[in-house]
Amino acid sequence: MGKQIEIVEVGPRDGFQNLKEYLPAEKKLEIIDSLIASGVKHMQITSFVHPKAIPQMRDAAQVAETCLKKYLDLFALIPNYKGAENARKVGMKKVTNVISLSESHNKANINRTRDESFEGLEKIVKDFSKDMEVCLDVATAFGCPFEGKFYDVKPLLAFLKRGHDMGIRSFTLCDTVGLADPKQVREFVKASLEEFPDSHFEVHIHDTRGMGLVNTLAAVEAGIGGVQSTLGGLGGCPFAPGASGNTATEDLVLMFNEMGYDTGIDFAKILAAAKKEHAEVEGNYSGHNLNIQNN
Ligand code: COA
Ligand code: ZN
Repeated sequence: MGKQIEIVEVGPRDGFQNLKEYLPAEKKLEIIDSLIASGVKHMQITSFVHPKAIPQMRDAAQVAETCLKKYLDLFALIPNYKGAENARKVGMKKVTNVISLSESHNKANINRTRDESFEGLEKIVKDFSKDMEVCLDVATAFGCPFEGKFYDVKPLLAFLKRGHDMGIRSFTLCDTVGLADPKQVREFVKASLEEFPDSHFEVHIHDTRGMGLVNTLAAVEAGIGGVQSTLGGLGGCPFAPGASGNTATEDLVLMFNEMGYDTGIDFAKILAAAKKEHAEVEGNYSGHNLNIQNN
């Protein structure tokens, strides 16, 4: 067996949040089941957000309660304290609070300044970390739809330190609109791992400019702990103009399996799951064109 690689499916959150019409919880759960059957073990299943902000996630409690019976490494996105409360209510054991590295995107996405969001995070850690692992999603870590691409890693490291000082040890570096390139990913991941050797890091890459696979590979070769992707390459942030889908899970699985890594995921099964999902969401997707493999 080759080196293990942790593939983290985030389609049930990042993918489904971007559908035009509400996809009923039963349909979401069917797709989640086919992901589990393919060998997926780590999954972001929903987000506890305001239903007006993201109507697709209004069934968060129902999806979470059902999934919690399925023995996976499950987690949910939260934007604030209220989200953490709702996640704990249904028994979530792991949540990730999203804050953007860029002030303008944080305002657009969460309607708060970064300082306000960090104040909220401190309270979340204080009140909830005995019941749930609290992680930090760094949105726009590589660049922002309003402020452009980031070339200097120092603001990212300072941002991570704020979370680390609060006791957070699990971080995701998100390329929210797909501005990153492999050299930048290698540098930002390496610097983060060197600065915070006691922490777990993942990347969350959008494939806006066709660099999803190479950026993910660059992160893996730089020593990242996990890579996030979405079945069928769905995804996008409704509050980030230009954001398109994530790197497709089935593409990552094919690449890493062929390279001899141990993903634990069966390619034929995950491809079948992607095709099933495609049939389900066809015509209900506002992001980039789905490009499902045929072989
Ligand atoms: N879930 C459900 N309801 C929430 C909530 C949450 N996480 N956070 C706040 N609310 C409710 C409040 O209880 C309040 O309800 P009330 O009017 O009945 O009293 C109402 O929303 C307004 O609260 P406020 O704190 O002023 O919210 P806001 O209008 O400033 O919106 C967010 C802030 C974070 C809730 C909203 O911007 C949001 O959900 N964003 C989601 C962003 C996202 O998921 N982006 C994509 C993924 S990165
Ligand atoms: Zn995303």
